[in-house]
Amino acid sequence: ERSSNVQTRPPVVTIMGHVDHGKTSLLDKIRETKVATGEAGGITQHIGAYHVKTERGVITFLDTPGHAAFSAMRSRGAQATDIVVLVVAADDGMMPQTVEAIDHARAAGTPIIVAINKMDKPGADPDRVLNELTTKEVVSEAWGGDTPMARISAKTGEGIDELLEFISLQAELMELEAPLDGAAQGVVIESRLEKGRGPVVSVLVKKGTLKQGDLVLAGEHYGKVRALTDEHGKRVQSAGPSIPVEILGLPETPAAGSEFLVVTDEKKAREVADFRTNR
Ligand code: GTP
Ligand code: NA
Ligand code: MG
Repeated sequence: ERSSNVQTRPPVVTIMGHVDHGKTSLLDKIRETKVATGEAGGITQHIGAYHVKTERGVITFLDTPGHAAFSAMRSRGAQATDIVVLVVAADDGMMPQTVEAIDHARAAGTPIIVAINKMDKPGADPDRVLNELTTKEVVSEAWGGDTPMARISAKTGEGIDELLEFISLQAELMELEAPLDGAAQGVVIESRLEKGRGPVVSVLVKKGTLKQGDLVLAGEHYGKVRALTDEHGKRVQSAGPSIPVEILGLPETPAAGSEFLVVTDEKKAREVADFRTNR
């Protein structure tokens, strides 16, 4: 890698928390779209990836499901990420998937920012949330700890600017960098089979730039990138560090969490893919 190409990259932020505490609603409010209402039963089934431009730069968000069955996804989310935003509903408090998300973030060494959500609700009790989190050693800066906590409402938008500010400050502290040039490397966020399109693989580029025509080795599969689309389904020619894209061209769906990399030698790609398949 040529170090002269190293540049500041956007933070990758994973939204975690107990089921229905408002993770997708928060992302929707940030994006001012309506994904939560379009979801089957309002339950997030997979990790959605989005990037938004704020006044202080680009932030990439990964949404995760809060349902108990999705622990592996939360674990992968915490690993693929720079910062965890832990959403806790102020009227419900710390719950099992809140605790689990804290554990995943700790295991991955990822800093946590807490978003105490649903502050608009009459039953909101943020002090109770602070107290409960303290029992897991997640202590608010206001209480002498080191965890930034924003009181927000994904419904009214209250506190979201402050939350974005906390994210940007944390990202600046981390001095996140990645080479812009060179063969892309990253991680598979999710993959699915789509009628008429074949395997659609969401990836997050960690370094380098992924381009149409690149030969990609992802988990046990390899193939030439036929098309790249952004999270809105718009065709793009390339994707740089911290930018999520969907790729078409892989023959099958690699497992979420698989590493991917761009290779130049098809024979090598086949050898590695075969080795991984037979392992
Ligand atoms: P899973 O993905 O299923 O874990 O849920 P989630 O955490 O993404 O929660 P979601 O965004 O689907 O919101 C759950 C419910 O809470 C929905 O009915 C939202 O409208 C509601 N909700 C979310 N945020 C707020 C808020 O700030 N205030 C109020 N009053 N309701 C909210
Ligand atoms: Na939900
Ligand atoms: Mg959701």
